[in-house]
Amino acid sequence: MTGLKGISVLVFLCCLFSVIVGDHEEEKIPGLELNFYRNSCPNAEQFVKDEVSRSTLIDPTTAAALLRLAFHDCQVDGCDASVLLSFSNGLMTETESEMNFGLRKLHIINGIKSSLERICPQTVSCSDIIQLAARDTIHLSGGPFIDVFTGRKDGTLASKERADKELPPADISVDKFIEIFQGKNITLQEGVALIGAHTLGIGHCRNFEKRLQPPGDPTLPTGFKLTLLVICSNPFLSNITFETNDLTTFAFDNRYFTDILNGRGLLKIDSDISRDQRTKPHVIRFASDQKQFFRSFTSGFLKLSNHKVLLGKQGEIRKDCRFVNN
Ligand code: HEM
Repeated sequence: MTGLKGISVLVFLCCLFSVIVGDHEEEKIPGLELNFYRNSCPNAEQFVKDEVSRSTLIDPTTAAALLRLAFHDCQVDGCDASVLLSFSNGLMTETESEMNFGLRKLHIINGIKSSLERICPQTVSCSDIIQLAARDTIHLSGGPFIDVFTGRKDGTLASKERADKELPPADISVDKFIEIFQGKNITLQEGVALIGAHTLGIGHCRNFEKRLQPPGDPTLPTGFKLTLLVICSNPFLSNITFETNDLTTFAFDNRYFTDILNGRGLLKIDSDISRDQRTKPHVIRFASDQKQFFRSFTSGFLKLSNHKVLLGKQGEIRKDCRFVNN
């Protein structure tokens, strides 16, 4: 009997182990590791976390800004910190693209980098700092802790044209939305979870005002439409007037999904995924099961943050995130 019990415990432990180990097996890519800087800069991850916590305490909107920054970096030519370059061989940079309108808090990453340069010169990449900061903001806002891999190198090129082409507009179609994630081996369920990042932050009127102009978007409930019409009443201010993406703007929770099912999707794409037959089942699931949302977000985010990374001898470790090294 005792022997049988022993075997059952062993089988249970084996299963548990394989679930834990196998959990993010799919998202692993050779060259990236957990805690890549454990020997070269042991305090790097803690330092990022402390700085992100400090900045978020001063300005709680920081979390949303840093999360969007991580997506916009990976979306254009992979997660290589190209979004931070303020000079690119005389060409226009990514932040000059209209698609990056509203991108904020880049200086926080630049600040973390310059402090880390004093402790561990030319060791920690800007692209890793972006992903670590996003991971910390998600967790600080009540979301899952995502053990992101590190060891990325920084790119040496940035392109406004690529940003124009690769970054999704607020009124992207559901077909194109699905394509964006498919190209990164991200499942539809994970893609829907990832746009659940709109559980944080805001959207400016310029990104949804078309929905308010005649003939108007018939899917917008009258009450919500009236609220938005008041907020966006002055068309000359549409770059500074805004509404929150969901009703719990500082909390990383599944409220976004309940909101969009109730017709309170701010951007056209937020609304559309709550009605399209391919995405709706996932929206319904996440609205009623926050744990499932967190699980799918975690696996999707790991894939996103590993997208087209530069490794080993590729790229460089920038000394200043805003410029390539000489
Ligand atoms: C693929 C479809 C997506 C589209 C079309 C889209 C579009 C937008 C737009 C237009 C805004 C408003 C920007 C502004 O007016 O300031 C926004 C905000 C935001 N997006 Fe997305 N997004 C998408 C996916 C994602 C993903 C995958 C993430 C992260 C994983 C993300 C994170 C955010 C966050 C956190 C904000 C709020 C930013 C802030 O408050 O500063 N988005 N998005």
